[in-house]
Amino acid sequence: MTNSISAVKPAFDVEEIRAQFPILKELVHGKPLVYFDNAATSQKPRRVIKAESAYYAKINANVHRGVHTLSTLATDAQEAAREIIRAHINAKHVHEVIFTAGTTASMNLAANSLGQLLLKPGDEVLISGMEHHANIVPWQLVCERYGATLKVIPITDTGELDIAAAEQMIDSSADRLKILSLTHVSNTLGTINPVKQLIADAKKRGIVTVLDGAQAVPHMAVDVQDLGCDLYAFSGHKMYAPTGIGVLYGREELLEQMPPWQGGGEMIDQVTFEKTTFAKLPFKFEAGTPHIAGIIGLGEAFRWMQDYDLEAMAAHEHALQEHATKELLAIEGLRIIGTAKEKVGVISFVIDGVHHYDLGTLLDQQGIAVRTGHHCTQPLMDHFGISGTTRASFAPFNTTAEVDAMVAATKKAVKMLR
Ligand code: ALA
Repeated sequence: MTNSISAVKPAFDVEEIRAQFPILKELVHGKPLVYFDNAATSQKPRRVIKAESAYYAKINANVHRGVHTLSTLATDAQEAAREIIRAHINAKHVHEVIFTAGTTASMNLAANSLGQLLLKPGDEVLISGMEHHANIVPWQLVCERYGATLKVIPITDTGELDIAAAEQMIDSSADRLKILSLTHVSNTLGTINPVKQLIADAKKRGIVTVLDGAQAVPHMAVDVQDLGCDLYAFSGHKMYAPTGIGVLYGREELLEQMPPWQGGGEMIDQVTFEKTTFAKLPFKFEAGTPHIAGIIGLGEAFRWMQDYDLEAMAAHEHALQEHATKELLAIEGLRIIGTAKEKVGVISFVIDGVHHYDLGTLLDQQGIAVRTGHHCTQPLMDHFGISGTTRASFAPFNTTAEVDAMVAATKKAVKMLR
């Protein structure tokens, strides 16, 4: 556990947590909302909503640009959030925390900047078969631009990385393999990948390592120094913070070498028509006015998480996942997609003779929000020979009674649809 708050945490109390999420009082189709779509976006606790709106109500001004009081207050609030994030993920320096619009923007920054720095014809970039499109398409675009090849680590039928194949691909790459970019936790399967081991292998060969941590940061303690990765991306909105804000953590030495990706205000040192020099880290990578309210909300979301025992939260979500797995498997023709040993609270499933969209629609009629479809992982769907799944993804505010409601509603829907 790396967060900086060492105060004694209260015992895990799901009702106390639920009381902090105003949306959970809403009705959907006249039924109490059961929100199981946290991997798409999590709900927000009241104090995050308040922190974001307090910025607009009390200190709204641009950051790092004015000498006036509001600008100073907004700048201080933004930079305080950066420090909270640094401490939470245990980055060595606060300037290693770059604000972006979300994981997708972080991955595009990583791919474009690293592509320019590292890739030439014949080089390789290695990802895996369970990546989100945000960790596939940006690399495809840069590989095409620089004449490099995108390689894919195969996955097993349980939805785990084929570690032997991964190690073989890393070890036999000679000097061609320049970048290894993996998801820390699969958004579709819930699989927690053993990334530390692969990063260590890659580092021995001088390969730059990138992690997509969008589904990890909300559910576990993430220590970027312990992981040893060069870059780590995540979003605010999946970890109880606003949409439109995310982070790219980068190791200082690498960030110093990486060229800026987007140009504009605030990322410069000196501009003439002949030449521009760039600002110091992290501002070199933060062109334009940032999502200041979102950054403040993100900082508040980390403060909120730090008030709890992350391991207790994870254990609660895991228990929900195990209960849901057991109960759902009692439905005839239901198959769980993603049965890795190490999983977060995500459960994807298919049911013979039932289309996921139909099931999702009928669950919604009962007030139950799940995601249906390919979850931005079409190649993974191809691996399993399916077009999509129904996915329930849990948060600390979910309960066993809600899981039971989903299972009962699924049984009812299956009877109607078959
Ligand atoms: N990547 C998000 C999900 O898994 C949108 O649903």
